[in-house]
Amino acid sequence: MSATAHAGPVPAGPAPVGMGPHLLSVADLGRQGIAEVLDVAEAFAEVEQRAIPKVPTLRGKVVATVFFEESTRTRLSFETAAKRLSADVLSLAVAQSSVAKGESLRDTVQTVEALGIDAIVLRHRCAGAPAQVARWVQRARVLNAGDGWHEHPTQALVDCFTVRQVRAEAVGATPAALGTSCFEGLRVLIVGDVRHSRVARSQILAYQAVGAEVAVCGPASLLPAGLEDWGVSVAPDFDEALGWADVVSLLRLQAERGSGAFVPSLREYTAGWGLTAERVRRLAPGAVVTHPGPMVRGVEIASAVADLPSVVATRQVANGVAVRMAVLFLLLGEPSAGVVGSGGA
Ligand code: CP
Repeated sequence: MSATAHAGPVPAGPAPVGMGPHLLSVADLGRQGIAEVLDVAEAFAEVEQRAIPKVPTLRGKVVATVFFEESTRTRLSFETAAKRLSADVLSLAVAQSSVAKGESLRDTVQTVEALGIDAIVLRHRCAGAPAQVARWVQRARVLNAGDGWHEHPTQALVDCFTVRQVRAEAVGATPAALGTSCFEGLRVLIVGDVRHSRVARSQILAYQAVGAEVAVCGPASLLPAGLEDWGVSVAPDFDEALGWADVVSLLRLQAERGSGAFVPSLREYTAGWGLTAERVRRLAPGAVVTHPGPMVRGVEIASAVADLPSVVATRQVANGVAVRMAVLFLLLGEPSAGVVGSGGA
């Protein structure tokens, strides 16, 4: 695609972001690929400001969302993104599908592909399921929308996009002008249930790829073994680390993955690791707090804190559409066709 949005630089053509035909992991992207996704997403963020926030870029393409786990943000933002690109969208209601009759994952995705689907956006409780599906499909693109404890690549891209946007505003620059330089030396603190968090794994890969320094903290029981191999440090004192960080990424306790058994009680977890009103005063000036959602108010974050301007969870959700438009475009766009558009589709 030769993208010519109304404003802002847009790379020409579906970009060689290095991710191959699928988006399974942040590791598929690297620094250049992440930079490219963020810049293309900026162009689509501009499209979202139009009276008719829709472009013909993926007209004729079909995107299917296949979610074997619950979702609000990821599913709706992928579907909104695909619709804004003029793709047709199918959503498989897994619980009401033939999966309930015993159909296998392989037969399910091959059935979906046989309908002429161009991209499968897959969330699955099993780590590696999207990679396995990518080996089974013939021509469809596979996008990992979260697989078990493994990865959630588009969430990490949304987080980078949002952090860059905030830093650009702070210095009066455009995000694209900052490129990835704004991440150099950025201090990112990831807090909580790192053990069970696919978001944490993708964030670590993404932030490190663009030059940030990443530390984690949380109860020892919720920090995975082998962290030293991930290139992150472990902050022993949460209260102290809050003053160190430029970005604090809060994680939800993953109750559905048994996290409750790893802490004595929710009250003790909050006392030790919750971002309370007292703790928020320890944040460094200008620090930003991210949360991938869903937030559990009163556990990892106090309800009043969740509504502070420095907590950008709602902004992350809004940015999710532009970022997912970007990855869909980069995977499905035709080199010769379409533009980001000069009007409604
Ligand atoms: N952040 C995230 O993946 O949220 P959902 O589970 O609502 O999609």
